[in-house]
Amino acid sequence: MRMVENALPDLTQLIELYRAVGWLQCHDDEKFVKNILLNTDEFICIYIGNTLAAFGRMLTDYHMSAFLDDIVVHPGFRKMGLGSAVVNHLISKAPEVKKVKLTTFHASEFYKKLGFTNPSCTPMEWILNP
Ligand SMILES: CC(C)(COP(=O)(O)OP(=O)(O)OC[C@H]1O[C@@H](n2cnc3c(N)ncnc32)[C@H](O)[C@@H]1OP(=O)(O)O)[C@@H](O)C(=O)NCCC(=O)NCCS
Repeated sequence: MRMVENALPDLTQLIELYRAVGWLQCHDDEKFVKNILLNTDEFICIYIGNTLAAFGRMLTDYHMSAFLDDIVVHPGFRKMGLGSAVVNHLISKAPEVKKVKLTTFHASEFYKKLGFTNPSCTPMEWILNP
């Protein structure tokens, strides 16, 4: 297992990973994905052999807040601790932040095991450029 920080992965593999979990619409284009990563504060790839097995990214001010996004583990490598490793590694890059936020549809139990709780406020979003 090899962890690589903040280095652009093979974008074809990353898009395949997004595709495997059905995150297609805005991720299905190499230029778009590259722009996302070049403007992300922290991201991490975990490789098993040459396969991109897990990925995650974080936007943060390193003091107050951090936002986790696109935490994903290849379906062939789940329940081995990789998802937890991605989240814990990203948070360790901003040890002073007071709150880490994220949204999830299906993985709330995974995040609760890591220490996350349901927010005390109502999450809001505004979908622009769908
Ligand atoms: C959610 C996800 C990242 C978890 O990755 P993973 O590598 O399988 O997670 P881990 O192996 O680190 O699991 C840690 C613990 O959470 C549990 N867990 C993992 N996924 C879970 C899920 N979807 N629901 C409930 N529990 C889950 C594991 O069983 C494990 O429990 P244990 O410590 O008691 O053994 C992965 O399933 C995934 O990529 N899902 C699709 C994309 C997604 O929904 N990402 C999150 C959106 S923000």
